Amino acid sequence: MWDGTKQLAHALEAHLRDLAPDTVIKVFNIATTDKNEVMTEVFKSKAIAVGSPTVSNDILSSVGGWLYFLKELKFKGKKAAAFGCYGWSGESVKTLQKLLGEAGFEVLEASHRVNWNPKDEDFLQMREVAKALIAD
Ligand SMILES: Cc1cc2nc3c(=O)[nH]c(=O)nc-3n(C[C@H](O)[C@H](O)[C@H](O)COP(=O)(O)O)c2cc1C
Repeated sequence: MWDGTKQLAHALEAHLRDLAPDTVIKVFNIATTDKNEVMTEVFKSKAIAVGSPTVSNDILSSVGGWLYFLKELKFKGKKAAAFGCYGWSGESVKTLQKLLGEAGFEVLEASHRVNWNPKDEDFLQMREVAKALIAD
């Protein structure tokens, strides 16, 4: 909605490029990218990270629809992390983790939930999510 979650995604991308320079890393906006294109990249990947702000005690419907599609494809042996901004109740990260688990992903404990707009310490915290994503 206001790009906080998008900024976290780009911070995660920057940490991953720094920690794993030989790894191919791609960032997508699920709301504006063809869902099949994103799914093709998930098929080729070992790990994904999905972000959504909290909206009406839930996740964005664009992300929810995409996760429904993800579940249908029954991927196995891939890791997933969740992150997102919130204002007061902050359900999005837990909901993302639940849906990623139901879609067959190994859901990482490493995650980050940010109250309103991310600050420098939040961008730094995304490094822990990056480390968990690339760990063997
Ligand atoms: C329509 C709308 C509904 C929202 N509902 C919730 C909510 O139920 N719980 C909550 O914690 N925050 C809620 N928020 C606050 C957002 O999660 C918060 O502004 C967040 O920082 C937005 O992240 P973004 O910058 O990635 O869009 C809502 C915001 C909007 C605009």
